[in-house]
Order: sequence, then C-alpha cells, then structure tokens
Amino acid sequence: MGSTLTEVSGRLNSRLATVLKRSEVVTPDFAECNYKLTCASCAVRIDERITLPQISKEEEDLLANLGYTDPQFRCSCQLRLTFDYQDKLIKFF
Ligand code: FES
Repeated sequence: MGSTLTEVSGRLNSRLATVLKRSEVVTPDFAECNYKLTCASCAVRIDERITLPQISKEEEDLLANLGYTDPQFRCSCQLRLTFDYQDKLIKFF
C-alpha cells in the first residue's frame, strides 16, 4: 500500500483526524471507530519538527499492535492542531 504526504489546513485546536477527513484525501474507512481509539485507521506519521503531546498507553499499545513503533506515528484522532503544524507535512497510509 502506498502512502501520501499532505499539508493540513484547519482551525487551531481542531482534531487532526477531522481536518484530514474534510480534506477528502483519505479513504472511506479512515477513522472508522469515530475517535474511540480502537481502530488506528486514522494513523499518521507526523513531521519530526512538530512537538507531539505525551502519548497515552492505550494509543501506544494500539499502534504497536499494528507495527507502528516509530514514535512519530500517532492516531490523528488524538491530536489537536497547534501552531507547530504550520507549513509541515503529515504522512498517512
Ligand atoms: S479513529 Fe479509530 S483510533 Fe482514531
């Protein structure tokens, strides 16, 4: 499966998964658990220049079970847009 790089555009503090859904570049099964942190279909790799919040044990375990062990992989439903995201890219699969 290929991956895609994209820039995001959304309001400050918007949920990243919501912004990506609106971008229409994601597949229909993206974020299928509706942000309940059970599917990881919203997984993205975040640019290293973006400071990420502490990951929860639940999210870390979910991602690890799917082989996403790089700390830059996160569930986009758990992230909010900050000024750090400005002019940076998000990679999703
Ligand atoms: S939407 Fe399912 S884990 Fe994020």
